[in-house]
Amino acid sequence: MRTHTLITLLILLSQTLFAQKYQPSLQNEKKVNALLAKMTLDEKIGQLTLYTTDWGSTGPTIREGYKNDIRSGACGNLFNSHTTEFVRELQRVAVEETRLKIPLLFGFDVIHGYKTIFPIPLGEASCWDMNAIELSAHIAAKEAAAAGLNWTFAPMVDVSRDPRWGRVMEGAGEDTYLGAQIAAARVRGIQGKKLGGTDALLACVKHYAAYGAPVAGRDYNTVDMSERFLREYYMPPYQAAVEAGAATVMTSFNDYDGVPATGNKYLIDNILRKEWGFKGFVVSDYTGINEMVNHGVVKDEKEAGELAFNAGMDMDMQGSIFQRFLKQSVKEGKVREADINLAVKRILHLKYDLGLFDDPYKFCNAEREKSTLLSAENRAAARDISRKSIVLLKNDNQTLPLQKGKKVALIGPLAANKSELIGNWNGAGNANDCVSLREGLEKYLGTTINTIEACQVNSTDKSGFPAALDAAKNADVIIVAVGETAMMSGEAAARAEITLPGVQEDLVLQLCQTGKPVVVVLMNGRPLAIPNIAEKASAILETWWLGTEAGNAITDVLYGEYNPTGKLPMSFPRTVGQVPIYYNHKSTGRPYDPNSKWTSKYIDQLNSPQWPFGFGLSYTTFEFGAPTAKATLSKDAFVQVSVTVSNTGKRAGTETVQLYIRDLVGSVTRPVKELKSFQQVTLQPGESRVVTFNLSKKDFSFYRKNMRFGMESGTFEIMTGGDSERLTRTTITL
Ligand code: NOJ
Repeated sequence: MRTHTLITLLILLSQTLFAQKYQPSLQNEKKVNALLAKMTLDEKIGQLTLYTTDWGSTGPTIREGYKNDIRSGACGNLFNSHTTEFVRELQRVAVEETRLKIPLLFGFDVIHGYKTIFPIPLGEASCWDMNAIELSAHIAAKEAAAAGLNWTFAPMVDVSRDPRWGRVMEGAGEDTYLGAQIAAARVRGIQGKKLGGTDALLACVKHYAAYGAPVAGRDYNTVDMSERFLREYYMPPYQAAVEAGAATVMTSFNDYDGVPATGNKYLIDNILRKEWGFKGFVVSDYTGINEMVNHGVVKDEKEAGELAFNAGMDMDMQGSIFQRFLKQSVKEGKVREADINLAVKRILHLKYDLGLFDDPYKFCNAEREKSTLLSAENRAAARDISRKSIVLLKNDNQTLPLQKGKKVALIGPLAANKSELIGNWNGAGNANDCVSLREGLEKYLGTTINTIEACQVNSTDKSGFPAALDAAKNADVIIVAVGETAMMSGEAAARAEITLPGVQEDLVLQLCQTGKPVVVVLMNGRPLAIPNIAEKASAILETWWLGTEAGNAITDVLYGEYNPTGKLPMSFPRTVGQVPIYYNHKSTGRPYDPNSKWTSKYIDQLNSPQWPFGFGLSYTTFEFGAPTAKATLSKDAFVQVSVTVSNTGKRAGTETVQLYIRDLVGSVTRPVKELKSFQQVTLQPGESRVVTFNLSKKDFSFYRKNMRFGMESGTFEIMTGGDSERLTRTTITL
């Protein structure tokens, strides 16, 4: 008895002090068991069921059908229902009209903000500032939790090296290390200090696994890669999210090694649960279970349910497979009720952890909803992180920052736009709340600006060009806002061409021919291939879709109120033919040599990207000395690397100091460089600072020939710099 109490105490203590990975609270175990004992099999299956409400463009509606499902206990969880009023009514049905009064979970895709919209995740990843990313996720969660929600389908942590894939906008780009840091920061932000706080939601890491690597960049397509590749490049962000405490995980639509992730026992049970120790619940993606029939791994939906459930799936999103077939599967002995009990317990535990049994309406406080959404404080945070997410790609002759006195012509289909600027997956965001670029500029300059749309984002009509060219001729500087529409990326929005759509490129090039300085402001959801614009424009700002405060943030950067700090989280190719393109490629036996035909390259294009991973300019310049590396072999600082960084320009600025390594000889081939750490330093003009990194043994480890994770002795190259190409180097032998 005593030992038992001591162990319980130790576990509780370890949970509070090192509260990292999600652990169901032991205090609720008895209550969960007591409730489970009262449940019929139908009621249990109801807890494993998640349905969407039919929230349409005209607002929420409640079909009697799913009210009945809630009442009968057939549906224990809902998504796409938000606002305190709507949620309260549905929750009321659950806790007043059902036999067991079990409260509902309410999920929603809060991907980059609920009402105050932050930059799209790929854009936000450009800030390389984990505190800012955590704060943005936290504000999004706080707003959503004030609007009735308790669960978000975020973060999306799928690594992707293919800008054709529309969903790159929802992730953190191409890199495993950066992606893992961001995954953890987003989980911390979403779940806050403690589950159950009214400023936090349950996070749902998605899409497990390798959803970001569909063949040919086409959404939902097959994924085929070696296990080594999967574990080394694609898995760490999911694992980092789990380590950071993510309470739920969503499986992906794709297959992996011939088995859909939705029914993949190896992924769900072996790796996620057993290897990583994940203790929360796993939910399918939308009708993902049903789709296993199309995948051709089961003959019908009932078998699909059995495959998914027995693989470790706890909750069926929208497919109604569990609801329709699981009971029969139990009768036939194809699914064990004991396993259903485990799945139900995982879900009930989280409902208890959220405090829903004590107060099912705790997220339904209309006063809080009013004061929290779109507050001045939230908008200020959005403006700040939006500025940090802008990447300066080109700045010839110091075109930027602009001087206030110069006459501006503002041109382009996105110059005065708001609806595209809040991007795809914009929660409950409202385009009218968004500050357009025109509004941002006019407010800052205190004057109206000649603004010409010139063309649509995706049309062939050039009839607006003459007016744009006239305006350009009468101006000192041209700002042209071009890009994609929000629906051109996100789910089911792969593009085979990744150029600027429509006649926008032609517009920019004609403006460049006027001889006036042309500042291109890109607003888009993926890396674009724009070699001609890269050559001809005077300055280029990648602003992604920045959300509610877009116009203010871009203006801040254009006029030097903020010195840009953003760095690309994904390589920008010169042409779609280079895709997939990524900085951490292997050497090959015939590494690229421009002077030798018989090396790994194209005959009609360079190997290098237009702009590499990690790239981004500032209004000042930085120089890097050669790094020094010393082996201390201690646990926290296995190797210590120092590098001197100097601000050699005329303005104060912040540089993201990036550290890459290369294992020169391994039992399996190793990438030519891999990001292992980064730090941001702010330096005054003329100031130098020594930046020191402590690398762990893990940073030098990889899946060796025998698939064991570990380090191999030998020589490592250590590289430091402000992007993944311009690097200073040293070596160390360990
Ligand atoms: C399908 C998407 O793949 C997933 O990311 C999203 O969370 C669900 N639909 C729910 O909207």
